[in-house]
Amino acid sequence: MQRKRVGVLISGRGSNMQALVEAARDPSYPAEIVHVVSNKPDALGLSYATAQGISTYVLSHRSHASREDFDTALNAHLQSQALDLICCAGFMRIMTPVLITPWLGKIMNIHPSLLPAYKGLHTYERALADGVKAHGATVHFVTPELDGGPIIAQAAVPVLPDDTPETLAARVLKVEHPLYAKALALVASGTIHMKTSP
Ligand code: GRF
Repeated sequence: MQRKRVGVLISGRGSNMQALVEAARDPSYPAEIVHVVSNKPDALGLSYATAQGISTYVLSHRSHASREDFDTALNAHLQSQALDLICCAGFMRIMTPVLITPWLGKIMNIHPSLLPAYKGLHTYERALADGVKAHGATVHFVTPELDGGPIIAQAAVPVLPDDTPETLAARVLKVEHPLYAKALALVASGTIHMKTSP
């Protein structure tokens, strides 16, 4: 089995990236994490990746005049790494078609809600305000529609009466890690693929 070469995009803590790295320690896992990119130089996840011997790269969005300029530079960098797949994991950037189109069907994201509910930011606060009884996480293919691409896998957790955004986020995060590892395996093994043409 040829393991798929995966790059992970992060902006911060990188716990989902860490979960993918740990899953890929199993030689039978169909993917390996070969590269990590952050748009923030101080992202905590960078030091974990470096300690694991994974190459890292920082591309600051602040040094680019527009979203398209940043995405053009990021795409060029990603192309240079001979990657098969890209996992966004807490990558806090809205991506434009300049970046998405070349990777369509090969780029995925984890979002902390049961999509299509609660696209965008502050999902825990909004779920609590609505009084929903379940929340969760979704791994989906990235398309130009924000948080709107085809769903690969989901995991749900209960919302408890005393929850705060922090306690709910912590419960969701626990299910995100195995969920993302499972979703990446489904895509890397070819079990699931995105239909990119009609
Ligand atoms: C996760 O909750 C993920 O769903 C969201 O941002 C958070 C990133 O956490 N997109 P981490 O950086 O992976 O720890």
